[in-house]
Amino acid sequence: MTDPVSEQTPAAEANASQALEWRDGDMPYSTAFGDHFYCQTDGRLECGHVFLAGNGLPARWNEQQSFLIGELGFGTGLNFCETWRQWRQHRQSNSKLHFISFELYPMRSEEIDRALSRWPEIDAERQALVAVWPEVPGGIVTLTLDAQTRLSVVCGPAIDGVSQAAAGFDAWYLDGFAPSRNVDMWSPELMQHLHDKTVSGGTFATYAAAGFVRRNLQAAGFTVERRKGFAGKREMLCGVRQA
Ligand SMILES: C[S@@+](CC[C@H](N)C(=O)[O-])C[C@H]1O[C@@H](n2cnc3c(N)ncnc32)[C@H](O)[C@@H]1O
Repeated sequence: MTDPVSEQTPAAEANASQALEWRDGDMPYSTAFGDHFYCQTDGRLECGHVFLAGNGLPARWNEQQSFLIGELGFGTGLNFCETWRQWRQHRQSNSKLHFISFELYPMRSEEIDRALSRWPEIDAERQALVAVWPEVPGGIVTLTLDAQTRLSVVCGPAIDGVSQAAAGFDAWYLDGFAPSRNVDMWSPELMQHLHDKTVSGGTFATYAAAGFVRRNLQAAGFTVERRKGFAGKREMLCGVRQA
């Protein structure tokens, strides 16, 4: 398979930090976007409900030899670490996972470490990620985390990264702050690019349920389904590229 990001022109060094506050000790809050990075109930369980189950994972991992996940918004790496944890439990011996995340403001390793320390369940993944995370992340950070798992973080605006990525994504995690606070991460143009980079039968999932997000995803070509959200949220969206 062609490497989906190796042929890109690396985005301009995007090493500006995001303005953060810490709430409840270890819960990052973006003062720039006025939003939390994950739900305050339990971001790790939210990841399992919304992003993994919403994309039919882990079950779909058993259907193919290599699997490519795209994510809008790497943030603290919580979704990656929880995905990696579940992948280690469920993968076949020869299968490969590549997780590519698009992030405008990559965090520093101390910030990732502080945020993820909240979850003992992902201690091993947090420690392994922080140990190799670059001091000044920029361009495309590519890390081989074990023989079957690769992480790439494409630094810069998601619209640039996704539009330059090669096609072949099997599943998407759409995690770009609340749509009302960050319309750029839910724009018709970005939804179209990510649809066009998705394989036939590929999927997306998001906690967002806003009408304009649903319409943008439908207009891009996804068949969209509403499901019950996590922890009392009425709805979330997931969907599939039919052809
Ligand atoms: C809700 S947080 C993601 C949480 C993350 N998935 C995690 O596991 O911690 C949203 C992320 O989107 C990033 N972001 C916001 N606007 C962006 C843009 N236009 N392009 C790329 N990333 C963006 C923010 O910097 C932030 O890290």
